[in-house]
Amino acid sequence: MAIANVARLRDAGPVPLQTRPMVSIEGVTMSFGDFTAVRDVDIQAGDGEFVAIVGPTGCGKSTILNAVAGLLAPSEGRIRIDGKPVDGVQRNVGYLFQQDALLPWKTALQNVELGLRFRGVGQAEREEQARAWLAKVGLAGFEHRYPYQLSGGQRKRVQMAQALIVEPKVMLMDEPFSALDIHTRHLMQNELLRLWQEDRRAVMLITHDLEEAIALGDRVVVLSSGPSSRVVESFPVRLARPRNVAEIKLDQHFIDLYRDIWACLRGEVEKSYARQD
Ligand SMILES: Nc1ncnc2c1ncn2[C@@H]1O[C@H](COP(=O)(O)OP(=O)(O)OP(=O)(O)O)[C@@H](O)[C@H]1O
Ligand SMILES: [Mg+2]
Repeated sequence: MAIANVARLRDAGPVPLQTRPMVSIEGVTMSFGDFTAVRDVDIQAGDGEFVAIVGPTGCGKSTILNAVAGLLAPSEGRIRIDGKPVDGVQRNVGYLFQQDALLPWKTALQNVELGLRFRGVGQAEREEQARAWLAKVGLAGFEHRYPYQLSGGQRKRVQMAQALIVEPKVMLMDEPFSALDIHTRHLMQNELLRLWQEDRRAVMLITHDLEEAIALGDRVVVLSSGPSSRVVESFPVRLARPRNVAEIKLDQHFIDLYRDIWACLRGEVEKSYARQD
């Protein structure tokens, strides 16, 4: 049954982008010395499209995102953002790192202001915008707390405000919610969808949580196990928006899609475990 569904989706072919491509990864190979992490990867994210990327641990997900952000250069292939080649650190990209990336010696407000400070925005303007963004992510009143005085979920909110304040064309998110408990994770996922819905920008989100990928994404891209990992399949998610991530899991399309994608992902995860033995 699951196999038949996968075949049906394959027959339908890739879903054509509804909008112009915002992120375009073309034939990208990423090597570290003689180790090739990913080989010949093609992924596109249209303007306003939410692309979720899943794959076994170590398959090169963070490496791909780092290349899009301009932190790493591809060994082969090319990456463009809004048609322009990525050649160095990108200013029009917001990046939520896998690790906690707030500066511990700065308050929430000062952390959120950083991007504007680098762009030379004046102090009063910076503060006003940072306060507004903290309020948007539900942290009004927390402006003067230091990261150690915030919960894990609150620190993620600050990071989200920090990334969005510069109004990036593209948001990159690397397992942003994986360290959070399930209730906080649902809250943050809904919050992210609400913010994204307000001002749709292209999103590339990495997650090892397939439910999260389907609940948030317009498309789920499955990567194979590494080394030399590649794109195995790209699944369109035809679930109506706005979505509630907890409730959407009961939708029949969600359940069918989960089964189809898991049929594809499971083999890769098993291969990746076998290599670690
Ligand atoms: N700077 C580096 N030098 C050498 N090898 C690296 C470097 N960065 C990553 N790698 C290797 O490249 C592969 C992909 O790493 P990456 O961090 O992109 O994986 P990932 O898919 O994000 O994994 P996870 O799900 O565990 O976060 C891994 O085998 C890793 O050890
Ligand atoms: Mg990673």
